[in-house]
Parts: sequence; structure tokens; C-alpha cells
Amino acid sequence: MRILTIPLLVVVWLLAAAPVAAQIANEEYAERRGALAAATGEGLILAVGSAAPPQDYIPFHQNSPFRYLTGFTEPDAALLLEVRDGAIAWERLFVNPRDPATETWEGYRVGPEGAREATGVPGRSVEELQQVLDSVVAATGTDELQVVGAYDPDAAVLNDVTQRVQRLTAAHQDLQLSTAPNGEVSTLRGVKSEAELELLRKTTALTVEAHHEMMRAVRPGMNEFEVQALVEYTFRRYGSERPAFASIVGSGPNSTILHYNQNDRFMEDGDILLVDIGAGYGGYAADITRTVPVNGTFSEPQREIYQLVRDAQAAAEELAEPGVHFGQMAQVAAEVLARGLTELGLIEAPDATFEGEGGQEIPQLYLFYMHGLGHGIGLDVHDPWPPVLEPGVAFTIEPGVYVRPNLFDEVIPDTPRNRELMEAIRPAYERYLNIGVRIEDDYIVTEEGLEWISPAPREVDEIEALMAEPWDGPAPRNQEWVEWYRLMK
Ligand code: GLY
Ligand code: MN
Repeated sequence: MRILTIPLLVVVWLLAAAPVAAQIANEEYAERRGALAAATGEGLILAVGSAAPPQDYIPFHQNSPFRYLTGFTEPDAALLLEVRDGAIAWERLFVNPRDPATETWEGYRVGPEGAREATGVPGRSVEELQQVLDSVVAATGTDELQVVGAYDPDAAVLNDVTQRVQRLTAAHQDLQLSTAPNGEVSTLRGVKSEAELELLRKTTALTVEAHHEMMRAVRPGMNEFEVQALVEYTFRRYGSERPAFASIVGSGPNSTILHYNQNDRFMEDGDILLVDIGAGYGGYAADITRTVPVNGTFSEPQREIYQLVRDAQAAAEELAEPGVHFGQMAQVAAEVLARGLTELGLIEAPDATFEGEGGQEIPQLYLFYMHGLGHGIGLDVHDPWPPVLEPGVAFTIEPGVYVRPNLFDEVIPDTPRNRELMEAIRPAYERYLNIGVRIEDDYIVTEEGLEWISPAPREVDEIEALMAEPWDGPAPRNQEWVEWYRLMK
């Protein structure tokens, strides 16, 4: 395996010199629909876009399968495909009609007449969808409608896609509904195109920049929300449409909460700070975590945990190349963590267990490392991906260790055997209490190995060096990144 670690200046030069991909071309969306048709073979496919938000003034977000097939980001849309012999025989995009009164408030719509130019698919008004669906079902005599989208009639609360599909099919009691194409769309989404990879490189670059700003700005006495504000300012100033997920800015005990996002604690000298953030750019999600000492210098216990997590990440990264099962990487990272936690005295042995509530044997490792090693990234921050790496797959590696304050009181069941364990690990537990460390990077699998696309400082000395730099406000505007946005639009 070879990791492409290009020095930052060279990266900037390459990006400046290379033609910057514009937004994803209509031809590529057509290829995706064609690939779905080829995988489906025969039948009628309905892809359902997201509904307008029920409340006013909430930003609209298109669901990922629909965006993947159409690129269309207006609410209430739908795509109907008739597939014959593995090819698209007929397709229409149903969109909201033009309506100057509504557009006065909500902005311009493409309308049915503009749909073909905008997306490459002939348009119809969404008001005609029911009638068109009825006649296509009658004309083809099909007994099945294949739905793309989060159709789930068994959910406790029916989502927008399900409600819409139920309304549209209420008059067709004999029509079987299948969500089989969702599997095909997920498979297609698992391997990214060049245009998608380019957007992922950009959204990770903005997120790396936010980590730079964070490391330079953090100091004792600041509140977590000030760090969040700086991070999200950095995203938005270069055109990120939104954070791809709720920014996690957790200091001290909050660093041990995996998806903490209250972000409202004043940080103290001696705290660790875990910052798990990702810009959303052109629809694509970054997901990068860095953990830093609030006062700029890792304490000895912080450094020991940090280095262990970093070693686990490096071991997994070392394995990553086409053909490798992610499970193998997860196994190796867990082994490194288990050995290291044993050496630190936090667990009794790499394969030691404790007694669960029901008396079952649970690895002690899980007391401190209780999540998976990583996930795909793409339109969703947790994107579909194949279990075996291949070129074009984009994913994270994010081991962590969390020494949480409620471990003895609430997590480990109070049994005689567990009491012995707690006594054995108490000195180490007290030494490392309230240290949560996660290190998360983003990667693209290439023919040769692995491209590391999140080169924010991550070694102890790199982090301490950047944190020692003075900070008197955000970095000057990066003209290059403003141009990226201009080209993407
Ligand atoms: N960034 C949050 C997660 O991956 O779960
Ligand atoms: Mn993640």
C-alpha cells in the first residue's frame, strides 16, 4: 500500500493548475439511471424526492438516492422510469409547476418546461403524476411498482416518501410495492465517479481548513460554541451549503460522548478537546475528527491515549488497498487498541472480558472503544460502500478511546467479578479519566493504494506546533476556494 502524502503547497499548486470539475454533468446522471435500468431489467421505477419542509423558513434538503439519480434539488419532485430489456424506455421528471405568486416568496422554480434543460430528463408537472402513473400502470399491465427512496409502511411515523407513495398507489390495491432498486442505487453509490471524488476532495479541504482555524484559535476560557462558530464560518465562507452533520465540539468529559453536540461548555486549562466536523459541499460530506489539548500541550496521560489511538489508525491505514476487506482493518485496529489499553492498565488483558447485565462475557476493550472503525462517505456522511475496498471507494478510518466519568457507576454492572476488575484498573482509570480521543481521516481508494484527502495535522508535534501559532482572527480569504465555488455553480 502506498499513501499519497503530497505536501500542502504542492496540493495547492496542483489544484490551481488542474482544470476544476464543474458540477456533476447531466450525462453522468443519465449514466446512473441507465445503470439502474440495466440492473433492474424490467418494470416501472418511481424515485421519490423529498417533500417541502412542513414548517416555513427551514432549508430544504433533497434525499440522497433522488439526488444521486437526478441532481435535482427542488422539493416535491418525482422520477418515473419505464425499463424494458435493461434500458430506459421512457422517463419523466415530475416537478412543481411555475407559480409566480409562490416564487415571490420561495424563489424561482425550473418548472416542467425547464426540467429537460436543467436535468436532461423531460419534465411534467407534479400535479399530473397521479394521472400519468395510473395510465402507465394500465397501459403496461404491470403488477409491481419499484420504489427508490425511504419507503417504509411499517415505521411508527410515516416519512414523506412513504406517505406520498401510499397516496399515489391507494387506487391500485393489486400493485405490489418493492424497494429492491434501493439496493442497486446503494451499490452504484458505493463506487464514486471522478466528479464525485473531486467534490469530496473539496469538502475535505474546507474541513481541514476548519481544523487549522480551530487549532490556532483554541485556548482555555473559550466556550465550545465559539469553536463551532469558527468551524461553521469556515465552511460557509467557501460555499459549503451546511455542515454535513451536527458539529461535535466536546471538551473535558464531553470528549467521551460519541455524538455530543450541545457544544456549550467553557473549556478549561488541562482539558482535551474532540472536534468531529464535516462540511457539506456540492451535496458531498466530509467527516474529519481531531483531538487537541485546550492549552496547546498534551499532558502525559493525554499523549499516551492519543498515541495509542493514532497507532491503531496507522495500523488500519497501512493495510488499506484494493481487495482488502474493511473487517480486516477493523480487526487490526482493535488488536492495537486492546494491547495498548492493557499496557496502560485500563483493561486486564487484550482478550479479557467483564460480566454484562445478563452475565454474558463482553470484551473489556468495549468499555473504552465502543464504535466501528469507519464508514463510507459521499452524499451522506454515512454513505453506502462495499465491504471490500476497490478504486473509487471513499471512506473514513476513526478509532477512538473514551474514558468516561460514569464507567464504574453506570456502565460496568456491580458484580463480585466486576468489582475485582474495577479495583485492578482504578489507578489507570483515575489517571486517564475524562480523556476522549478520536482521530478520523478520509480516504479514497485508488488503483495503487490509498489517497489521504484529510491532511490536517494529526501527529502530537504537528498539533502542538500549529496550536502555538498566534491567532488574531480567521485566515485571509482563499481566492482559489472561492473560484472552486464559482466553477461548481
Ligand atoms: N462523524 C460522526 C460519525 O461518523 O458517526
Ligand atoms: Mn465518522
